[in-house]
Amino acid sequence: MESIPAADTRPAADTRPAGDGGPTAESSLAGPFQRRSVSFVHRDHRLRPTMQRTWDEHRKRLMIDVPRARATTSVAAGFLLDAMRDFGREAPLVVEIGSGTGDAVVRAAQAHPGTNFLAVDVYRPGLAATVAKIVHHELTNVRLVDADAVQVLKHMLTPASVAEIWVFFADPWHKARHHKRRLVNPAFAELAASRLAQGGTLRLATDWLDYAEQMREVLDAHGSLTNPYAADPGFAPRFEGRAMTRFEEKGLASGRAIYDLEVRRD
Ligand SMILES: C[S@@+](CC[C@H](N)C(=O)[O-])C[C@H]1O[C@@H](n2cnc3c(N)ncnc32)[C@H](O)[C@@H]1O
Repeated sequence: MESIPAADTRPAADTRPAGDGGPTAESSLAGPFQRRSVSFVHRDHRLRPTMQRTWDEHRKRLMIDVPRARATTSVAAGFLLDAMRDFGREAPLVVEIGSGTGDAVVRAAQAHPGTNFLAVDVYRPGLAATVAKIVHHELTNVRLVDADAVQVLKHMLTPASVAEIWVFFADPWHKARHHKRRLVNPAFAELAASRLAQGGTLRLATDWLDYAEQMREVLDAHGSLTNPYAADPGFAPRFEGRAMTRFEEKGLASGRAIYDLEVRRD
């Protein structure tokens, strides 16, 4: 049976996406400190040699070098995204939380060259795969951050600065004992809503009905977010800009339906 360690004080620990094994707590650079449940687990950061070469060659250009607070996945307060410094231009910003191996963000960046895309994940092999795809397609409008998305929203993004936030299959915490680790809760809704520009959109997708229902309830309860598909059952049609990923395929292959949610910032 899986268990959640009470604390994890490994320095600069590896991270891995949720779902494949037992969840662990956030790592720390300097001993135990107050921690919240996080929606990701630790995993091996090692890269295959070809991926390592691509990573070494392009990471400085494509990864935003984030100063940390204490945890290895944190963002130091006061470190703001700067569109000119980080993307070389001002443009509408789409943030993908839990970008995995980058399929969705890369396809969207190809389709929308006039938009800046920020891919956020804590899974190094996924970030490296995303870097490789960006290089392969010669994209100039994607940057990546290796950090907890909650920290990115809180510290790097100013209020009302984001056109869209995407959360696709970001945390498959479907077992009841892990529900407290789910990313989408009232605090997240508040943070995401505050970062969206007026008229901005938060898009979510999951293959777990009870999580979809929880997301819908949490978002419905937020006073500044409107669900254009609010009439029962409240789910949106499949977002046409959402690329099919391994995680969606896995859900479908297991016989689960996919639930899309879309809410607009008033
Ligand atoms: C199940 S995978 C799905 C990846 C991708 N969205 C897809 O559909 O293929 C979930 C990803 O979300 C990332 N993730 C979960 N919680 C996160 C958080 N709080 N901050 C950053 N990344 C997170 C995990 O590391 C993992 O790569």
